[in-house]
Amino acid sequence: MDSSEVRDLLAQAPLMARPLPPFDPDAAPAAPTALFTSWLAEANAAGVLDPGAVVLATAGADGRPDARIVALRDVEPVEAGWVFATDAASPKGIQLAQQPAAALTFYWPAQGRQVRVRGDVTQATREVSLDDFRGRSPASRVAGLIGRQSTPLAALTDWDLAAEGASRQLGNHQDAHPPGHTVYTLAAHQVEFWQGDAGRRHVRLSYTRATDGGWARSLLWP
Ligand SMILES: Cc1cc2nc3c(=O)[nH]c(=O)nc-3n(C[C@H](O)[C@H](O)[C@H](O)COP(=O)(O)O)c2cc1C
Repeated sequence: MDSSEVRDLLAQAPLMARPLPPFDPDAAPAAPTALFTSWLAEANAAGVLDPGAVVLATAGADGRPDARIVALRDVEPVEAGWVFATDAASPKGIQLAQQPAAALTFYWPAQGRQVRVRGDVTQATREVSLDDFRGRSPASRVAGLIGRQSTPLAALTDWDLAAEGASRQLGNHQDAHPPGHTVYTLAAHQVEFWQGDAGRRHVRLSYTRATDGGWARSLLWP
């Protein structure tokens, strides 16, 4: 596909050329976690697919950015922690060990909304990570037990074989778990809410952690 085909395809579905909800930043709550929760509820109600799917951006020791989607597991209001889980031996896990800071970016197209979260990342205790693993569906636990995330796979049938082995392992030991399954919390120091507008009068509200633990709010030029 050459680039003009791409342009034609993009022109068929222009970005946000549709009525979008208003956003009054003066009525926004004092804490970003509260606004995030209400926007997530509205994304759910509007039928956004996978509203908890979020782009996680990291950079390791080489300083080169990397990004991929992960599933948001929770948001902790007290520490303003956005929680996700992955294998500590995966590329993102290694990058987080080298540089424990990250950014999360949500996009909810039904409402033309973006949320950006930046902060420092910590690992949960072993017990919390194990609990997270135990609470997963059988398919998710099988996939987790296989491990080796992002290492080269010679053939898809190799995965099937590994999955059979992991299923057997789970059948024999209900509590089998991968050593690297880890819950991470990104403690936000900055959270930005972006409400798109068809007329390009996008509204951006940024929350920044203040030294007293509260949040300073400011509008940003779109
Ligand atoms: C909707 C969706 C949700 C995903 N959720 C997770 C997740 O919660 N944890 C995870 O490790 N990978 C998840 N993935 C897979 C990652 O995007 C990625 O392929 C994998 O983690 C390897 O990333 P890495 O090589 O940067 O470590 C998800 C992918 C999609 C599309």
